[in-house]
Amino acid sequence: MNEMISLENVTKTYKDKTVVDKLSLSVGKGEVFALLGANGAGKTTTIKMILGLAKVSSGNIKIADGTKIGYSPETPYFPPYLTAMEVLSYYAGIEGDKSKKDKSYLKKLLDVTGLEDTKTKVKNYSKGMIQRLALAQALIADPDILILDEPTAGLDALGRKHNLELLESLKKAGKTIIINSHILHDIEAICDRGVIMKKGKVIDTWTNGVSHESLEDKFIRLVGEE
Ligand SMILES: Nc1ncnc2c1ncn2[C@@H]1O[C@H](COP(=O)(O)OP(=O)(O)O)[C@@H](O)[C@H]1O
Ligand SMILES: [Mg+2]
Repeated sequence: MNEMISLENVTKTYKDKTVVDKLSLSVGKGEVFALLGANGAGKTTTIKMILGLAKVSSGNIKIADGTKIGYSPETPYFPPYLTAMEVLSYYAGIEGDKSKKDKSYLKKLLDVTGLEDTKTKVKNYSKGMIQRLALAQALIADPDILILDEPTAGLDALGRKHNLELLESLKKAGKTIIINSHILHDIEAICDRGVIMKKGKVIDTWTNGVSHESLEDKFIRLVGEE
């Protein structure tokens, strides 16, 4: 496996509370990997540590050299008085690569995520549209790895289908994707494998297509029991 990201005994403690507990996992190039678990299991904290947004208390995170990461957060927030295009231009400016500021390049990102280049301001966007914009933003740098925290939350069935198809095509293009999601049906549609977390610990692993038990049944069985 051509390893893109690996975590070794990664632990995160807030005061005396351990929210991620000796987590080890690795994700190979081109894999679509799922972090699963109930609310508060430690999924978002794990992602934040991978991104360097939260400090690791102990353990190691390795990311392949020269890897670019795109990130779509759980609760995206964009300047409310900007249009989608203005938001992307703004983030493209931060990114630093001039070719990424090109209007036709950014327009393409709006297209693939199902948004239109209109004068509508972000403050009038629905939750689903914000989610799409967050995905477009995550794609600006043409990253090797995409980290998506709840990418289909707030989308209706059509929006989810659109996003899943987009993720499928990104996978085909060789991107490595890490997804947190509660929507297990979506996970089964696009993810290769994953881990199920509970109170910061990995309690089981999951590989798509190897079991007769649906992911939802497995999840309820494992996460439900004390
Ligand atoms: N900045 C923080 N300070 C203290 N506790 C936190 C902080 N961020 C997250 N937590 C706690 O860590 C636990 C895991 O949270 P999180 O990683 O967001 O879980 P998930 O994404 O799986 O729902 C929760 O109990 C949450 O309250
Ligand atoms: Mg979360």
